[in-house]
Amino acid sequence: MKKRDKIIIFDTTLRDGEQSPGFSMDIEEKLLFADQLEKLKVDVIEAGFPVISDGDFEAVQAISERVKKVQVAGLARANNKDIEVAWEALKKAKHPRIHTFVSSSDIHIKYQLKKSREDVLKMAVNSVKKARSYTDNVEFSPMDATRSDLGFLAEMVYEAIRAGAATINIPDTVGYTVPSEFYNIIKYLFENVKNINDAIISVHCHNDLGLAVANSVAAIEAGARQIECTINGIGERAGNTAMEEVVMAIKTRKDRFNIDTSIDTKQIMAASKLLTHITGVSVQPNKAIVGNNAFAHESGIHQDGVLKHSMTYEIMKPEDVGISKSTLVLGKHSGRHAVLNRLKSLGFKLKKDEIDRFFKYFKSLADKKKQIFDEDLIVLISESKFKEAEKRRYKIENVQISTGMFSPPMAMVTIKDHYNNNTEKFAVEHGNGGVDAGVNAVKKITGTKAKLKAFTLAAITGGSDALCEVSVTVAEKYKGRELKVFGTGINIDISVAGIFSFVDALNKLEYLKKSGAWKAKAENVNL
Ligand code: KIV
Ligand code: ZN
Repeated sequence: MKKRDKIIIFDTTLRDGEQSPGFSMDIEEKLLFADQLEKLKVDVIEAGFPVISDGDFEAVQAISERVKKVQVAGLARANNKDIEVAWEALKKAKHPRIHTFVSSSDIHIKYQLKKSREDVLKMAVNSVKKARSYTDNVEFSPMDATRSDLGFLAEMVYEAIRAGAATINIPDTVGYTVPSEFYNIIKYLFENVKNINDAIISVHCHNDLGLAVANSVAAIEAGARQIECTINGIGERAGNTAMEEVVMAIKTRKDRFNIDTSIDTKQIMAASKLLTHITGVSVQPNKAIVGNNAFAHESGIHQDGVLKHSMTYEIMKPEDVGISKSTLVLGKHSGRHAVLNRLKSLGFKLKKDEIDRFFKYFKSLADKKKQIFDEDLIVLISESKFKEAEKRRYKIENVQISTGMFSPPMAMVTIKDHYNNNTEKFAVEHGNGGVDAGVNAVKKITGTKAKLKAFTLAAITGGSDALCEVSVTVAEKYKGRELKVFGTGINIDISVAGIFSFVDALNKLEYLKKSGAWKAKAENVNL
């Protein structure tokens, strides 16, 4: 009988989340995010799908070597090659897990796999056995479980457990089920699979009908003890169960569930912001838990109530999800010690070289901006952690922009090319505004044919001296396919942030091409 005194949080932001269009991350970004997941205290990080591309393989391998406290999972289809490659990527992890899957619904079996129920049953058993030849920590998923014949699903679950799977994950692959139905499916499995108590039952819900969190919560009530989820709910199509929502539901309604997770909820906001910064995709303001308005009370009656007693209209405390109420404002006179202390209380520990880079950014921001808030610090940290990584092809050395009502905007940009003996090149170009002039200069230096498709701007903190974050979508035709990436740039000046975001996107395109990860993105391996 497996222990089931808590809900295991299995984070798949770096696999299901990252595989969805527009959410590509390079290896440095994945490592940075894995560090944050470790701080959040998730139980399992699904780091990627190693067989899919060299980039995925390297990322799973690097995360396996880096992460010590958390289990690292790699995804594999139910065949020997996928499982061998997954193990090769995972084998240095302190706590490796192989996650293998095959479809159980007739619609997938017949039309996608062109096989029979007997075939997929054999594939399930053989793949679990193969994975067990490497590790005891094997998870099996019958894909499209919620559209499968229940009797056959139960048979597959039984055989997978008999073959040695320690975790059985029931995916609602196409986001089709509704809470009461999902509750009944999980209950049915508990009542009809003889060896069910030999495994942990997990669920993996997609949000096509906006029900992923509700379905996950219903599954917990039916006995599931592992939830697969992603930060900000990113993932295929409409996304996956949002970790912050399901975790806060369990915590806030402890009276109902009487169970815990190991998540340090104070790290939720930092994780959400970091993901937004890396991917350039913001969450909607009214998003539960992490949206800008999630704790904002606008109505007079609500404000009045909250001032008298916060619990009148607040079911959670903002501090519990890491929204700081710090009154300590940092600025250019703040000492290194005070700044490092603030970072520590936000949960960030930087290495020596990262601290030096961080202070370079901090000083340059503090020279321009009077008050530096926690939100500013979070983005500066992510900048200092990976934006200068040598593995990135282009590094901006300087940007100078001049613009005005009556003079044509002009930008001078200097860039170092790490793939080309670190040679520095500069160009001066005009354009329709500072960003356009800068982008033209970058295009001239790099010779890129990539096109800027979308440009969005957000002020991280208030005031005319706010740090701005620009997110761009950039597309390039490559080997007959269209590669699309997001780039982000931070600066106090909008035009400079725009140029940084364009170069960030070019670096991601270079990464996709160099690592071979573009094949997975372009072929769009849908799960
Ligand atoms: O949605 C899905 O079915 C998946 C599986 C691989 C678990 O992502
Ligand atoms: Zn999925």
